[in-house]
Amino acid sequence: MKGLILSGGRGTRLRPITHTSAKQLVPVANKPVLFYAIESLAQAGIDDIGMIIAPETGEEIRAAVGDGTRFGVRVTYIVQDEPAGLAHAVLTAEAFLGADSFVMYLGDNLLQGGISELVERFRANEPDALILLTAVADPQSYGVAELDGDRVVALAEKPAQPRSNLALVGVYMFTAAVHDAARAITPSARGELEITDAIQHLIDAGLRVESHIVRGWWKDTGRLEDVLEANRLILDTIEPRCDGELEDSQLDGRVIVEGGAQLIRSTVRGPAIIGSGARIVDAYIGPYTAIGEGCTIERAEVEHSILLSGCHVHDLDVRIESSLLGRNVTVSRQAQQPRAYRLMVGDNSEIAAP
Ligand code: TTP
Repeated sequence: MKGLILSGGRGTRLRPITHTSAKQLVPVANKPVLFYAIESLAQAGIDDIGMIIAPETGEEIRAAVGDGTRFGVRVTYIVQDEPAGLAHAVLTAEAFLGADSFVMYLGDNLLQGGISELVERFRANEPDALILLTAVADPQSYGVAELDGDRVVALAEKPAQPRSNLALVGVYMFTAAVHDAARAITPSARGELEITDAIQHLIDAGLRVESHIVRGWWKDTGRLEDVLEANRLILDTIEPRCDGELEDSQLDGRVIVEGGAQLIRSTVRGPAIIGSGARIVDAYIGPYTAIGEGCTIERAEVEHSILLSGCHVHDLDVRIESSLLGRNVTVSRQAQQPRAYRLMVGDNSEIAAP
């Protein structure tokens, strides 16, 4: 069985971060979200992985993942010229996938508990497709499945009147029958070849599509609030460890301090992670915060936030909260009058000041 990870796409909902970087590389607890997907496949014994990449962000993904050796897998990169839908991504990968069955994993999704059990079940039952589902409060925003037992009888993409509250999770298992289905469908109203339409095509052709309702949590990190929530969920599971230096500082609860990080007259209240080489001086880092490599936080407070590498936050009189700062961002306040905001901010940024 092969793996297919989708790491292309536009990432419009995560702008401005995605103006300069792939959303699959946004760190969750200081590790790119994509790495969790690769590890999950590796753990399930899937070591031959095709990675769909976009022309704009593909190089960055290649540089971060390499040939897959360090995950114990082999990665083949497949460029998708335009993000024309999940079923289009499958067609783009057809030469790589050949006649093999495969697990398709959305590169910005996180699924607790891995997929080993599901891969076993797919191998044992030999359905034509197996989809994962989870109950959601707002099925109108998702692909939704209608079931008869655990057999899927109909699918709808973002239905106005959902027939159930079971949303499709971003992990799917297919046999090679999906290629013909993806070829048979036409673009949806939003101009994409939808994977839900391809699966519906399998059902209509009388093929067996099974479902499994996931027990643990699932997170699609397509929007800021989802990235922050994924960060919370993962930080809740970390094992505390301190490899950095502490001077008159305190760590409360689950905290990881990476090697080369320095804490001076500061408090970190976990769950939190402080990246290697970070400097935290006269500062407070609150729960559910991930501070990236080489960040400097001085005379400031940060909570429930993700800071990418090289950020510099200093001399703030108000706490930074529920925020995502890109690489090398500076947030500071001038000591002298007049007190004013002086900004240099990229396109599509959001600033909500008190
Ligand atoms: P989405 O989050 O549905 O789409 P997107 O990345 O274009 O984001 P936005 O809606 O914010 O503009 O995509 C889910 C995953 O699949 C994500 O990792 C990107 C990837 N993807 C592809 O690789 N190719 C595609 O054609 C599409 C639509 C998505």
